[in-house]
Amino acid sequence: MKNYFALSFFLLFLFTGNVKGQKVDYQIVPLPKEIKEGTTGNTPFVLMQSTRIVYPKHNKQMQRNAEFLSEYVKDVTGYGLKIGTRKIKSPAISLTLGLQSSNPEAYSINISEAGIQIQGASEAGVFYGIQALRKSMPIGKYAQIEFPSVEINDYPEFGYRGALLDISRHFFTKEEVKEYIDMMALHNMNRFHWHLTDDQGWRIEIKKYPELTSIGSQRKESQNGYYENHERVLKFDGIPHGGFFTQDDIKEVVAYAAERYITIIPEIDLPGHMVSALASYPELGCTGGPYNVWTHWGISEDVLCAGNEKTYQFLTDVFDEIMELFPSTYIHIGGDECPKTRWAQCPKCQAKIKAEGIKSDDKHTKEEYLQSYVMKYMSDYLSEHGRKIIGWDEILEGEAAPGATIMSWRGEAGGIEAARLGHDVIMVPNNYLYLDYYQSKDYESEPYYAIGGYNPVDKIYNYNPLPASLNETEKAHIIGVQANLWTEYIKDFKQVEYMILPRWGAVAEIQWTGGAKDYPAFLKRLDKFVKLYQAKGYTYAKHAFQ
Ligand code: ACM
Ligand code: ZN
Repeated sequence: MKNYFALSFFLLFLFTGNVKGQKVDYQIVPLPKEIKEGTTGNTPFVLMQSTRIVYPKHNKQMQRNAEFLSEYVKDVTGYGLKIGTRKIKSPAISLTLGLQSSNPEAYSINISEAGIQIQGASEAGVFYGIQALRKSMPIGKYAQIEFPSVEINDYPEFGYRGALLDISRHFFTKEEVKEYIDMMALHNMNRFHWHLTDDQGWRIEIKKYPELTSIGSQRKESQNGYYENHERVLKFDGIPHGGFFTQDDIKEVVAYAAERYITIIPEIDLPGHMVSALASYPELGCTGGPYNVWTHWGISEDVLCAGNEKTYQFLTDVFDEIMELFPSTYIHIGGDECPKTRWAQCPKCQAKIKAEGIKSDDKHTKEEYLQSYVMKYMSDYLSEHGRKIIGWDEILEGEAAPGATIMSWRGEAGGIEAARLGHDVIMVPNNYLYLDYYQSKDYESEPYYAIGGYNPVDKIYNYNPLPASLNETEKAHIIGVQANLWTEYIKDFKQVEYMILPRWGAVAEIQWTGGAKDYPAFLKRLDKFVKLYQAKGYTYAKHAFQ
């Protein structure tokens, strides 16, 4: 036993290089705006087992922040730091509010021999300071950890820093969704766009329409692969697939995200991408069905009937429950990929067009304007309840509802047009920020089949979400950047991790820092960052480092 101890100390000595301690490195992802080393003295702060985390009394969020920091430090160093509201004799990491900044998510970190102070303009700012500290730390069991004296001043470039997860095409459990949220927090993201419904599955309990989940959340099997010998050949796996979140599950996840300063933006995609709802309530479709929850991927011609009053009742009922569950001001109502084939043939839809005085013009068909009518109807309903809509860039075809925020996915064109029209914009161009696309050109060697495309880390890193063709006023409408993970070909959570990591490192850098690009320097920081992925047991892709 004695020898074992001696050996451990010897190994510890070997790994740390010196017994004095392992040094912290402030070159992290995303890179803080300002890192000034040595301005607060030359002696480092030394973190020890006895270091205490101190937070202001009677502030539950700050208490939770202190607990997060303690958990994170334990993750990387094994130290179990105590938390408390009073400074005692031992050195401390103090978490405080009151930083003067026009940016509510700003934080500063001041480190001197005497201690570490993280100050935020809000509790969220403190949380990002904690993330920065966590990422600076060396990973492993060290006798001491040395923090060189430093002053860090930081704030995000974009207030909306999003990530989408599609749980319709493949279902992911509550624990997996929480893991996704944890990974978002690690990347300083603050908006979780939750794609809850689509042709292939309805994944949220709606009390007034129980069949949405009893029927709409289940499908018989799933499309497997796509092309064979360059021919489009559909193959199926023969395995039933399903699942949904109860309203209690949803509340739990919303609270979990909120603790991490992440707002969940639910998406109920309408009036297209609705086959799972039609399978449950066929009277909502133009033909009356019968319909089956889709087992393959693509764009359905069967959509909600826009001429049936039951459709409007259905939608307002569903959104009543959605608003109860999600406190987010933004609600995403989809609007993408809605073919007008059925509407053009449907007597009810045509009667509605007539009754509303909708006419074609040289820009758009009357059916396209009918979609604008539906979107505006929902937008008005939600804004009467104090909410705002986000829609995919297709909602510009016709007339986008006043005040709608546009999510530009078919490249940047929709976002550019929308910003010029005075709409707020979130940039999610598929040619940069669709993470279901491959990260290698050598598709054959990839461990997972993917939808196509090619969005490697360097391409994402070099993306500038502020198009050069916009003037400053128009650029001010670009309020955010998001990365999307559609899951047609993503069947398990390991694959989710592989697709987003380390590409989220590049996404985080765009969302948080904007600004100057230095890819080699970024890659060095990323290389260190993935050590944390390793410590957390995350699966990640290695292309960027080869
Ligand atoms: C989308 O990718 N259809 C928004
Ligand atoms: Zn119809």
